[in-house]
Amino acid sequence: MTYRQLYSESTCLKEAFWMKEARRISWFNLPESILTPVDQYRNNWYEGGTLNTCYLAVDHHVENGRGDQMALIYDSPVTGRKEKYTYRQLQDEVSMLAGVLNERGVEKGDRVIIYMPMIPQVVFAMLACARIGAVHSVVFGGFAPHELAIRIDDASPKAILAASCGKEVSKIIPYKPILDAALVEANHKVDSVIIYQRELLKAELKEGRDYDWEELLKTSTPVSWVEVDATDPLYILYTSGTTGTPKGIIRDSGGHAVAMHMSMEYIYGVKPGDVFWAASDVGWVVGHSYIVYAPLIYGCTTIVFEGKPVRTPDPGTFWRVIDEYKVDVLFTAPTAIRAIKKEDPEGKFKERHDTSSLKKLFLAGERTDVATYEWATSLLEVPVIDHWWQTESGWPMLANPTGVGMKKIKPGSAGLPVFGYDIQIVDHDGNELPPNTEGIVVVRLPLPPGVLPDLWKDPQRFESAYMTQFPGYFSSGDGGFKDEDGYVYITGRIDDLINVAGHRLSTAEMEEVVASHPEIAECAVVGIENELKGQIPVGYVVLKAGSNIPFDLIEKDLIHMVRERIGPVASFKTVIRVERLPKTRSGKILRNIIRSIADGKPFTTPSTIEDISVLNELKQVMTMMEV
Ligand code: COA
Ligand code: AMP
Repeated sequence: MTYRQLYSESTCLKEAFWMKEARRISWFNLPESILTPVDQYRNNWYEGGTLNTCYLAVDHHVENGRGDQMALIYDSPVTGRKEKYTYRQLQDEVSMLAGVLNERGVEKGDRVIIYMPMIPQVVFAMLACARIGAVHSVVFGGFAPHELAIRIDDASPKAILAASCGKEVSKIIPYKPILDAALVEANHKVDSVIIYQRELLKAELKEGRDYDWEELLKTSTPVSWVEVDATDPLYILYTSGTTGTPKGIIRDSGGHAVAMHMSMEYIYGVKPGDVFWAASDVGWVVGHSYIVYAPLIYGCTTIVFEGKPVRTPDPGTFWRVIDEYKVDVLFTAPTAIRAIKKEDPEGKFKERHDTSSLKKLFLAGERTDVATYEWATSLLEVPVIDHWWQTESGWPMLANPTGVGMKKIKPGSAGLPVFGYDIQIVDHDGNELPPNTEGIVVVRLPLPPGVLPDLWKDPQRFESAYMTQFPGYFSSGDGGFKDEDGYVYITGRIDDLINVAGHRLSTAEMEEVVASHPEIAECAVVGIENELKGQIPVGYVVLKAGSNIPFDLIEKDLIHMVRERIGPVASFKTVIRVERLPKTRSGKILRNIIRSIADGKPFTTPSTIEDISVLNELKQVMTMMEV
């Protein structure tokens, strides 16, 4: 079957296509219906079907002859540790940890927060939750206590699984004090906090609430999987929205498992047994889908890498890992490739390793710029494939379907619509636009399996954030255009979200923190272009009249506040003092104009601008600064 045939089946003969795909995974009860409308915005996939995602990712392989195949390889250049787990060993680890959770009173439907670095135990934790039908919510390690507290209150977990510390290059990050501070701030009370004590740094445990992971394992008994409904949530993953409060993306069980399985074959073009390495973090959606669920459900070997593309110890780390484990497919963010290119532009470190096992490099998280595409292609001599997706989708929406016949690669484009995604470009009134006209990228409803069915405890926000702006479509929040061959080019967010080193962040959230400083009258935080990280946040602040505190102290304060409140991952390091901000007559700050001036890009001055002379002031400030 060609891409065109499969794609048209997936969108026109939906029920038949998605039933066929569903039959390729193992169900306890096959679904009674494929696609069931719930209301005008929502639909359920695979109602009546029962399954267990941990069973699919682990036990199924042990039962079907893959017990001795490597399931997980842990490689940690920051600690010097390397470990390997076969599917059978993974089954032992996960069923014992599931036993611990059960003994701590965690049951089907309960939520569990996981706050851990890139160690094998984080994968065991996710799978152990899935095994007993508990809903995990992984929080990225680079977030501060406040962000963790918001998620604890929203998800109301019965237990938290955490590690005593993480390691960032050479810096040990104590996780337990961050967790303790979050638990003080949160209103929700957690029954059990289970700490994996790393040799690097042991944490103090609070009697009656905190438990030692390894100690609990000693007395645990292994437990088997429970059956869950296809529509039961597997996890909640919080992601930045355009307000200060993150959105809890729900992932259902059945649609997700089908989508994960299918994407490995059709998009990534791998075979069971291949080594698939997503060099990301389990705190992000890429990590959920392509470090944990998809490779394991598909019977591949996955790699848990605790390091960075550079400095751990050098820009040859990725090539060393590919060589050592004979990686077939690498998936990372363009920023990681740019970081390597910056330190080793001629690719000398690559010459020290044999990367001939590598068949493809997939990039996502931000647009792959043409220079990065060309550099990676000539260095690795394999197809370099940009593909586009979001936390909301959980799997690619645009890609090159390499498993069903690789299509021509057009540098700068994220590729063709993936099976089940009817992608259109619309104007602000929702009219579909002709080729090569830039607009907003939307997906015609119903959304395919695996895409978010709703937001956790916030159905109204689900509707207002994604569904009501363009009736009949899911609004992605990204701008872009299609060419005459149907390839889509993503041009960037149309809202206040920014992408810093492949991490999605909300400038609104940073503005809230900056605005809370007593010396600040008003502010705008915008994402401006950055050669390495894609974008970085920059704060533009107007001080209160009469403020007499030296600006460098205020700047330090603001940087510290954002780091303490949101986390180091925000990379908020630049604050610019201005006398005024450009606004419309109704008082709306013109953030896109600030961004264009900072990026040196042309822009159209709106007729509603309050005072046009402010733009010259801004330009002057920018020419004096080097951001
Ligand atoms: N726990 C604690 N702190 C963390 C963290 C974690 N898991 N991840 C990042 N941080 C901290 C970093 O230590 C850094 O702190 P600092 O300001 O004290 O130096 C800060 O957050 C910013 O981190 P990062 O954005 O990662 O910048 P960096 O300079 O350390 O590394 C890159 C830059 C490009 C090498 C790195 O961001 C990278 O590899 N990006 C790829 C991202 C990715 O895989 N995204 C997923 C989509 S596929
Ligand atoms: P996240 O939800 O963290 O995965 O971030 C999703 C956002 O990252 C998207 O809405 C895009 O803005 C951006 N993004 C991800 N992949 C790509 C890509 N291949 N090209 C352009 N933007 C991308």
